[in-house]
Amino acid sequence: MERLLRNENETEALGLALAAKARPGTVIALIGDLGTGKTTLTKALAAGLGIAERVTSPTFAIIKEYAGGRLPLYHFDAYRLGGAEEMYALGFEEYFCGDGVTVVEWANLVEELLPEDAIVVELAYGQSADERLVRMKGACDASAAL
Ligand SMILES: Nc1ncnc2c1ncn2[C@@H]1O[C@H](COP(=O)(O)OP(=O)(O)OP(=O)(O)O)[C@@H](O)[C@H]1O
Ligand SMILES: [Mg+2]
Repeated sequence: MERLLRNENETEALGLALAAKARPGTVIALIGDLGTGKTTLTKALAAGLGIAERVTSPTFAIIKEYAGGRLPLYHFDAYRLGGAEEMYALGFEEYFCGDGVTVVEWANLVEELLPEDAIVVELAYGQSADERLVRMKGACDASAAL
């Protein structure tokens, strides 16, 4: 199912809805070109989990962990990380199967590592500067967030 996000607020609302549905071990795979809103969505998801700390883009060779919310958040950026080998080196399975919620930006670059039950969120540019198109696959209750 595809939905139009008319502005940043609507993308944030989707992040909040995903936070409400997240459980320990939820993996959210974000796919979309540069600037389509993957980090924006992640920030809203973190806020929805009750994480007070400011979420920033993870940089090379790191994974960011945020505590203090309803669930911990593990934030990967596969593009800035450099791909699947680096994900292995970071011990990604410990995160995917852990007690928190994992978000992977540029998840298409590490597709082979994603669990079968990952919630896949695809973002694309719309017609105007603030529009995005979103498509979701995965957990039914997450898709209900659309
Ligand atoms: N509907 C929208 N949803 C999300 N972001 C929007 C929207 N409209 C405009 N924007 C703007 O688009 C930019 C999205 O940047 P963001 O860092 O979230 O993208 P990204 O997908 O994480 O990029 P990157 O691939 O570099 O990590 C922000 O500057 C935001 O203000
Ligand atoms: Mg980003």
